[in-house]
Amino acid sequence: MKKRIVTGIKPTGDIHLGNYIGAIKPALELAKDEEYQASYFVADYHALTKMPEPGELPQLTNGIAAAWLAFGLDPNQSILYRQSDVPEIFELNWILACITSKGLMNRAHAYKGIVDHNRQVGKEVDSGVNMGIFTYPILMAADILMLKTDVVPVGKDQIQHVEIARDLAESFNHHYGETFVLPQFQVQEETAVLPGLDGRKMSKSYHNTIPLFEEPKKLQKRINQIKTDSLPPEAPKNPDESTIFTLYKEFASTEQVEAMRARYEGGIGWGQAKKELFEVMNNYLEEPREKYNELMASPQKLDEVLVMGAEKARAVSVPFLKEIKQKMGFSL
Ligand code: TRP
Repeated sequence: MKKRIVTGIKPTGDIHLGNYIGAIKPALELAKDEEYQASYFVADYHALTKMPEPGELPQLTNGIAAAWLAFGLDPNQSILYRQSDVPEIFELNWILACITSKGLMNRAHAYKGIVDHNRQVGKEVDSGVNMGIFTYPILMAADILMLKTDVVPVGKDQIQHVEIARDLAESFNHHYGETFVLPQFQVQEETAVLPGLDGRKMSKSYHNTIPLFEEPKKLQKRINQIKTDSLPPEAPKNPDESTIFTLYKEFASTEQVEAMRARYEGGIGWGQAKKELFEVMNNYLEEPREKYNELMASPQKLDEVLVMGAEKARAVSVPFLKEIKQKMGFSL
């Protein structure tokens, strides 16, 4: 039997290059592998922890779904769905909540990070924390366990969440008998952290991102904002410490990368390096951008794909939830 891979992206803002390189690209490679059955979803209920404005969510959700498709996810071969279209996940969420110790959630790093920050600035420890944020890892465990997932491709910051899912699966199995598959995380080491415009990790919270589907002119402007040092053009430069080069590597061919490396060592002006980064990036993104725009202009078509995906996910989740409840003693 094929191994199941599942991963989700939260629709909380415009999707950026870091999301693509760190999550979408490696996940698409796995989806092509015959060994795997891939299920990719838009974690729209997870986005509720940030209380989106009324009507904001559909557009953001469609944006993530369109991005998967624009980069070549085949919805007939893989399963693409909205989390909120699979209600069994939320029933399982409660079941898992009841086997999760509160202490485990206290130690989950996203929550702990907020608490530590609040302490530092002298605020009440739980300031700004809603129960969605606190129990976020439980819903994520439900996403993973509901589909009998073997492998979860994630960024480094999500490893702990997959470990929590595994712990909860083990506790349940121990108490009610073998039920859940124990999931494993998979991190794409080399590309897990993409630098942003200021050289720090590309992240929405640092406001240093490059949106994926921006028009070429804006993309160029953005690339021109990448921070560089004040070395003169002819000075040799270290490609491995350059944000421009790190980004270039993701979009250029092996030969182009080798040639660029040599030019760094021989001296290249930052302006020229940026120009060439723009060219390879724009070239790479042109086709997906067109496809993305097309999909965003026909939300009905997107909806059809997502509804079909949810049906396929539910072909697993409906009977499996029954089995889970039976194990717990519910009469069905
Ligand atoms: N928490 C993930 C993130 O913020 C998104 C997510 C939700 C997820 N459910 C998931 C990822 C299940 C993998 C599997 O990036």
